[in-house]
Amino acid sequence: EPTALWGGRFSSGPAEAMAKLSLSTHFDWRLAPYDIAGSRAHARVLHNAKLLTDDELTGMLAALDSLAADVASGEFTPVLADEDVHTALERGLIERAGPELGGKLRAGRSRNDQVATLFRMWLRDAARRVAAGVGHIVDALLHQVDQHPAAVMPGRTHLQHAQPVLLAHHLLAHVQPLLRDLDRLRDWDKRAAISPYGSGALAGSSLGLNPEAVAKELGFDAAAENSIDGTASRDFAAEMAFVLAMLGVNLSRIAEETIIWTTAEFGYATLDDAWATGSSIMPQKKNPDVAELTRGKSGRLIGNLTGLLAVLKAQPLAYNRDLQEDKEPLFDSVEQLELLLPAIAGMVGTLTFHTDRMAALAPAGFTLATDIAEWLVRQGVPFRVAHEAAGDCVRVAESRGAGLEDLTDEELAGVHPALSPEVRDVLTVDGSIASRDAYGGTAPARVAEQRARVATVLADL
Ligand code: ARG
Repeated sequence: EPTALWGGRFSSGPAEAMAKLSLSTHFDWRLAPYDIAGSRAHARVLHNAKLLTDDELTGMLAALDSLAADVASGEFTPVLADEDVHTALERGLIERAGPELGGKLRAGRSRNDQVATLFRMWLRDAARRVAAGVGHIVDALLHQVDQHPAAVMPGRTHLQHAQPVLLAHHLLAHVQPLLRDLDRLRDWDKRAAISPYGSGALAGSSLGLNPEAVAKELGFDAAAENSIDGTASRDFAAEMAFVLAMLGVNLSRIAEETIIWTTAEFGYATLDDAWATGSSIMPQKKNPDVAELTRGKSGRLIGNLTGLLAVLKAQPLAYNRDLQEDKEPLFDSVEQLELLLPAIAGMVGTLTFHTDRMAALAPAGFTLATDIAEWLVRQGVPFRVAHEAAGDCVRVAESRGAGLEDLTDEELAGVHPALSPEVRDVLTVDGSIASRDAYGGTAPARVAEQRARVATVLADL
């Protein structure tokens, strides 16, 4: 008994190299539970269209239940002659229901509408798993925020010391993009929740089937408006590949900072032993491999996105076999993230921050120069002049190896007549941070508000 779904007009089976090229069960087998769910729904609409009797429906559903159990237990697996997951499961159905009944289920559906539907189902479940994993990283970051409400650090631009900020503000700056990633995952689902089942090969079905009933049973919001689009479009997959790549890129920025922060030169933080690795030759080493794998895999996620877009580009409507190349990049991106997300959460949540060192470095590199300029502005000096004067202060301090707070009254007055000794009030890290008290700034009260808003957003997601 040949298992191919299309033997009728062929006088020979496929050449060996043809069959090998065609094979997709090594990756599309993960769609099997969704394929069977689709088959149950399809059996019910065939029954409603009077194409299956009551008894036939009962027999069909029983055979599908037995097949589902054997797929779940690993009892039933694809063989080499099964071209894809759909072919393998039809073989399994026929083995259980017999060729007469088993052969009836394929009426009015095509692998083209099936695969487009099942892939959406798989991705929608995967999006929920990814979102849960991202939530754990957010929790780990918030744990650190809550442990260090008052710790200060040098904020940087161009990786150079810029202005002092709260560590909590910096950590929340990593939380914010992750909240947007969670929002993107949720928003994506609105467009993914459309079922192509019933689109057939491309033109729809003539058998009085009910795509809306199938859509509902499979957890979709609606059936596809257009059967050609239903079978030909993969923007839902490309969009998800982007959302996952963007997430990877956001995680890579946390990773990069963890790598830098744990160097001897920075000494901002130490990795927990459980989330670091050693060296096979250098006994002293403690390496940030979780962070490095995150940085590396983000490149892989970008590749999966660009690879898929290249597959989709310029394909004529409707289904082309090129589209079989849509699944592996997404399966891979999700699989990589499922490895990464718990590890990043573990690494971030167990980092030990050396807040004394960060505080000591916070004023280094004249990070309070902007505070001098803004103090002068409050005395009525134009900012252009004030900026110049603050720069002069840096030059004078640097030339004698001192900090801005060490400038004498004479040195200050020599730079600008308005620079009275009171300027020293703003020449502290805490004073500088407290002064940035507009909405979204690093002042402790604003950061506390931000932290509270994050909790509200999370509760809504
Ligand atoms: N395995 C194919 C895919 O993943 C679905 C089968 C469609 N094949 C076909 N000859 N129309 O896209």
